[in-house]
Amino acid sequence: MKSLYSRLVIACAILLSVLLTGLGIVLGQFFPLFSENSNLILQRQYWFFLILTLVIAFVLSLLIATRMMIQYARPIDEMTKITSRIAHGDYLARIQTSESEYDNDLAKGINKIASNLQEMSTMQIMEKERLKTLIESMGSGLLMFGRGGTVNLLNEVFKTTFGLSENEVVGKTFKDIGLPIAIENLIEDVFMTEQVRAEQVRIDISDHPSYMSVHGAPVIGRHGNWLGIVVVIHDITELIRLEEVRKDFVANVSHELRTPITSIKGFTETLLDGAMHEPAIMKEFLGIIQKESDRLHLLIDDLLELSGMEREGFSLMYSPVNVKDMIGDAMDVVSRSMERKKMNIVAEIPEGLIIDADADRLMQVMVNLLSNAINYSKEETTVTVAVTHDMNEAVITIRDQGIGIEQSELPRLFERFYRVDRARSRDSGGTGLGLAIVKHLVEIHGGCVEVDSTIGVGTTFCVHLPILHNK
Ligand SMILES: Nc1ncnc2c1ncn2[C@@H]1O[C@H](COP(=O)(O)OP(=O)(O)OP(=O)(O)O)[C@@H](O)[C@H]1O
Ligand SMILES: [Mg+2]
Repeated sequence: MKSLYSRLVIACAILLSVLLTGLGIVLGQFFPLFSENSNLILQRQYWFFLILTLVIAFVLSLLIATRMMIQYARPIDEMTKITSRIAHGDYLARIQTSESEYDNDLAKGINKIASNLQEMSTMQIMEKERLKTLIESMGSGLLMFGRGGTVNLLNEVFKTTFGLSENEVVGKTFKDIGLPIAIENLIEDVFMTEQVRAEQVRIDISDHPSYMSVHGAPVIGRHGNWLGIVVVIHDITELIRLEEVRKDFVANVSHELRTPITSIKGFTETLLDGAMHEPAIMKEFLGIIQKESDRLHLLIDDLLELSGMEREGFSLMYSPVNVKDMIGDAMDVVSRSMERKKMNIVAEIPEGLIIDADADRLMQVMVNLLSNAINYSKEETTVTVAVTHDMNEAVITIRDQGIGIEQSELPRLFERFYRVDRARSRDSGGTGLGLAIVKHLVEIHGGCVEVDSTIGVGTTFCVHLPILHNK
C-alpha cells in the first residue's frame, strides 16, 4: 500500500510537469508562428517539441520524485510503520540504522524510545511477576478491594481457606462474599475509618474451629489518594493449638510436681509435730517420703530427658546394633519386676539382625515398653517380644495380656502426662512421660510406633525402625 508520502511525491511530479508544460504553452502564445498566416510546418514542429519537452519534463520529474521518495519518503514510511508497531506495544521493533538512508537522528531517537519502552515493559512484567509470586506464596489469604469497594484481587490461599472461587468473589462487595461476620465487621471498620485494623477471630469452617489473624489496611496511592483496602488473613490455628499444648504442659508439670511435694511436706510436718517419736510411724512416713522423692526425681529426670531430646543439636550416636542382644539387655533390666509378678516372657527374635541405631536410646525404648507391659498386666501373664524385618525396616512387637486400653484413649496415648488410669499409673510410680519419650526416640531414629489394644485381652506396641540410617 502506497503511503501518503509516496502519493504526495508522485502528485508533485505530475504537478511540476503540468506546470512546465503550461508555462511552455503560455510562452508559446508570444511567438509569431501562432499568427493566422504563420507557417503550418513551423507550428507542427513547435507542438512536436512542446510535447517532447512535456514528456522529458514528466520523465525527469518522475525520476527526481522517485529519487526523493527513496531518499526521504521511504525512510519516513518505514519509520511510520515502526512507530505504529511500537505504539501497538511491539517494543522489539527497530529501525535498521545500519542502512545509510535510516542513519539519522529521528531513526535513532525512535529506536531509543523503543528500547526504553522495552526496558520499562520488561521491568513492569518482572514487577508484576514478583508481586504475583509474592501474593501467591505469602502463605496468608489476601483480598484487595478497589476504590469502588469491590474485590479486584485475591490469592489462592484465600480461595482455599474459604472454599470460594474467583468468580464468587471478584467484583463483589465485602457484604456479598459471605465472609464470617467478624471479618466483615473488620473490613467495614477499615472502610469507614481508613485506619489499620488487626484482630484475632475464631471462625468455624466446616465445623472445625479455626483461628485467624486478620489484618486490614487502607491502600494509599503515591499522591495520598485512597485506592482501596487490603485484607490479609493468616491461619494461626496451629499456633493457638501449640499455645494450648504449652499451657497444658505447664499445668500438668505443676500438678505432677505439686502432688509429691504436698505429700513430702505433709508427712515431714507430721513427723516434726511429734510423730517422729513413734519409731513405727516414723519408719512408715519416711518410707512414703522416700517414695515421693523418688517420684519427684524420676519426673524431673524424664522432663530433662524430653527437653534435652527436643533441643536443637540433639543427635543420636549411631552404630550397628544387634537387635537380639539389645532386646536381651532390656529384658535383663526388667527381669526383677517380671519375677516379682511371676510373669513370663517369650522372645521370637531372629539371630544376627543388625540395624543402624543408637543402642542406649533403643534400649530405653524397649525398657519403657516392657515396663508398661509388666505394670499394666496381671500376675502370671505372658509378654511376647517378636522381631520381623525386610530389606528396609525392622519391626519390634511387644504384646502383653494385660488390662488393655480403650480404643478412644489410643490417639492420646503418646501425649505427655496422658494416663488412662491416673491413680493406677501413679501407684506404679509412673510419670506419664514414658510413651512420649518412646515416640520421640523412635521418630528421631526415622521410625514410628503404633499401638493396638483390646480391653481385658491385651496391648500390642509395634516399633518400626529403618535398618539403615539415612544421613
Ligand atoms: N501395655 C499397656 N497396657 C495398658 N495400658 C498401658 C500400657 N502402656 C501404657 N499404658 C497406658 O498409657 C499410659 C501412658 O503410659 P506411659 O508409659 O507414657 O506413662 P506411665 O507408664 O504412666 O509412666 P512412665 O512415664 O513412668 O512410663 C499409662 O499410664 C497407662 O495408662
Ligand atoms: Mg510407662
